[in-house]
Amino acid sequence: MSLATASAAGAPSARMVLLRGYDESGFVFFTNYTGRKATDLAVNPRAALVLFWSPLHRQIRIEGAVAKVTEQESDDYFRSRPFGHRLGALASPQSQVIPGRAVLEDRMAELEREFAGKEVPRPATWGGYRVTPLMIEFWQGRESRLHDRLRYQVQANGSWLLERLAP
Ligand SMILES: Cc1cc2nc3c(=O)[nH]c(=O)nc-3n(C[C@H](O)[C@H](O)[C@H](O)COP(=O)(O)O)c2cc1C
Repeated sequence: MSLATASAAGAPSARMVLLRGYDESGFVFFTNYTGRKATDLAVNPRAALVLFWSPLHRQIRIEGAVAKVTEQESDDYFRSRPFGHRLGALASPQSQVIPGRAVLEDRMAELEREFAGKEVPRPATWGGYRVTPLMIEFWQGRESRLHDRLRYQVQANGSWLLERLAP
């Protein structure tokens, strides 16, 4: 899915992340807690998500509040990742400028030696975020170009208001 955040100054940025879980409490993705998106979310804990299925002509837009998932959730997911992915989280200072690939490859080789046959601990700088939706819009494309747009918005009493929007 596409994840959009904004800086303290209101400058937007967007990137793809993997949607790793969703339920009534929100939409979860995992990332580095020191990269650009994390810096944005620390000062402006709001995000917008977009999912798109080309063959189905479907789009879902989600906007909401963002918070880190629990340490337990991050630990559980981190443990489920393949060995190399876990080491990658340790090896890569996400979004920092690096002089070349060699820095990453050397660090990865070092970590492979250090953790061979051992449990890889989740770095404190890596974990999940949950986007708790305040708005979800379902878009369904139609041949006629009169596409359907159904918007759900959370109301003060916690219920959802459903409205149809013009395409
Ligand atoms: C298909 C796809 C999936 C991705 N999934 C993730 C992800 O789950 N977590 C993540 O941190 N970065 C993911 N990335 C990389 C991000 O798009 C981005 O480059 C990285 O998170 C750094 O973003 P930032 O500098 O804005 O923090 C993915 C990229 C692509 C193309």
